[in-house]
Amino acid sequence: MRLNTTLAALGALSLPIASADYATSGPDKDGLYWIYSEGLSAAFITYGASISRLLINDQYGIQRDIVGGWDNASYYGIDQQHPHFGGVPGRYANRIQNSSFVIDGETYHVDPNENPTAAAPLGADTLHGGHDGWDYRNFTVVSHTNDSITFSIVDPDGKEGFPGEVVSYITYTLRDYTWDFKMVALATTKKTPIMLSSHTYWNLDGFANNETNTALNHTLYLPHSGQRVGVDNILIPTGDILANKQGSVNDFWSAPKQIGASLNDPEALNNCGFNCTGYDNCWLVNREEPYNWRDEGNFVARLQSPWSGIQVEVYTDQEAFQVYSCNGQNGTVALKKTQGLFDNSDFPRTIPKYGCLVMEVEDWIDAINNPEWGRADKQIFGPGGDPYVLQASYVFSINTTATS
Ligand SMILES: *[C@@H]1O[C@H](CO)[C@@H](O)[C@H](O)[C@H]1NC(C)=O
Ligand SMILES: *[C@@H]1O[C@H](CO)[C@@H](O)[C@H](O)[C@H]1NC(C)=O
Ligand SMILES: *[C@@H]1O[C@H](CO)[C@@H](O)[C@H](O)[C@H]1NC(C)=O
Ligand SMILES: *[C@@H]1O[C@H](CO)[C@@H](O)[C@H](O)[C@H]1NC(C)=O
Ligand SMILES: *[C@@H]1O[C@H](CO)[C@@H](O)[C@H](O)[C@H]1NC(C)=O
Ligand SMILES: *[C@@H]1O[C@H](CO)[C@@H](O)[C@H](O)[C@H]1NC(C)=O
Ligand SMILES: *[C@@H]1O[C@H](CO)[C@@H](O)[C@H](O)[C@H]1NC(C)=O
Ligand SMILES: *[C@@H]1O[C@H](CO)[C@@H](O)[C@H](O)[C@H]1NC(C)=O
Ligand SMILES: *[C@@H]1O[C@H](CO)[C@@H](O)[C@H](O)[C@H]1NC(C)=O
Repeated sequence: MRLNTTLAALGALSLPIASADYATSGPDKDGLYWIYSEGLSAAFITYGASISRLLINDQYGIQRDIVGGWDNASYYGIDQQHPHFGGVPGRYANRIQNSSFVIDGETYHVDPNENPTAAAPLGADTLHGGHDGWDYRNFTVVSHTNDSITFSIVDPDGKEGFPGEVVSYITYTLRDYTWDFKMVALATTKKTPIMLSSHTYWNLDGFANNETNTALNHTLYLPHSGQRVGVDNILIPTGDILANKQGSVNDFWSAPKQIGASLNDPEALNNCGFNCTGYDNCWLVNREEPYNWRDEGNFVARLQSPWSGIQVEVYTDQEAFQVYSCNGQNGTVALKKTQGLFDNSDFPRTIPKYGCLVMEVEDWIDAINNPEWGRADKQIFGPGGDPYVLQASYVFSINTTATS
């Protein structure tokens, strides 16, 4: 059977799917699967293979939950706002222009689910794999130990209009203040686009900063990202690669900069789509070859909060990095009971506009519709070819000399 071949192929990649690792304990009463390491505790849910809690002590020794999410696993599939909270968007993350693409001369149409117009009443594009993308589905837990969890999903041929079956394994592991993940996917029957990511919402203060409830004071550094993907007013790539000129709104490469530092610049308006001020952009990662993505100091991004002193460095083998500054949040998503301030009328227990930052390791967005970028071998996968692989390490540390 095909799945056995798939499992054998994955075994060759030494994924922890051996029966000896088989689930050691189930979820807690909220449907959370916990894993632990020195300095970190994290919880995951089957819905979207999402991260739901990430606990770390701040510079004062106070535990903070620094990722967005909801209180229990069952609520993720109920809340209609569905902000892709902490999940794995798939089988193709971000937007697909006109919900179509061409492989070997054949045009495929996938489920449109964003930006409806009179001409395209269901949507002008496809975001994160369609209405029933991977982060709307429950994955299967194939392994769960004290420091690691592996999820799997089988995405059938034709689902959301995509050609061929895809089988994927998502492994999250904690070790010594580090969250590692490895995502592997195999196209078992036909050539198909695959691009995954982790769509985690960060607030390094655990939404408990008593001076500001936004993340605009967080400092972001993208040292390898002098360029970004140009987009139109619904965030569809135009094909143009743009320069992030030094000192401009999208310059986070020449020096670390606060997320809010440039938002009064006229260039910030429409930067994240029509009438949107903020960030929802794909930065390219241009590292000098050869490089080892795991090398210390060779992070693609670093985010720091002076208030909590918590910082995270993002290491990855991926060559693009999407940042979304939660421009679309408006106070309608409740914080978890592990977050926020209590009984403080200045700071309601909800996520405000700019209250968080989504950081997505991925490949160049919509490269399947921009063949001139030459990225087909990173985005189109088929039987007999290499598997899709995404690896990342999020390395946390506490800066005890940070002040707010
Ligand atoms: C799980 O890991 C944590 C942190 O490393 C440790 O304190 C705990 O004893 C471990 N539990 C088991 C059952 O190994
Ligand atoms: C799950 O969380 C939601 C949102 O916080 C809450 O309304 C609901 O009562 C919770 N359900 C269970 C079973 O705990
Ligand atoms: C997904 O799992 C959650 C519990 O983790 C459950 O409440 C929900 O009904 C499941 N959804 C589907 C579509 O199976
Ligand atoms: C807030 O955002 C949610 C999710 O996008 C949306 O459903 C709701 O209408 C918005 N509310 C307001 C008052 O803008
Ligand atoms: C978008 O796709 C439709 C079919 O779904 C097609 O008729 C139309 O020409 C396409 N538009 C563009 C701009 O490619
Ligand atoms: C704000 O939070 C800091 C860090 O937890 C704490 O030291 C300080 O007392 C708090 N200030 C107020 C006014 O609550
Ligand atoms: C632009 O957004 C502002 C709020 O951010 C809103 O008040 C205004 O009506 C919007 N303008 C248009 C043309 O949509
Ligand atoms: C710690 O924070 C301070 C103040 O924000 C900063 O000057 C210093 O570079 C940071 N140290 C490290 C190791 O990040
Ligand atoms: C936010 O950063 C500004 C400087 O850009 C600083 O004046 C302010 O004190 C900071 N606030 C907090 C809560 O860190």
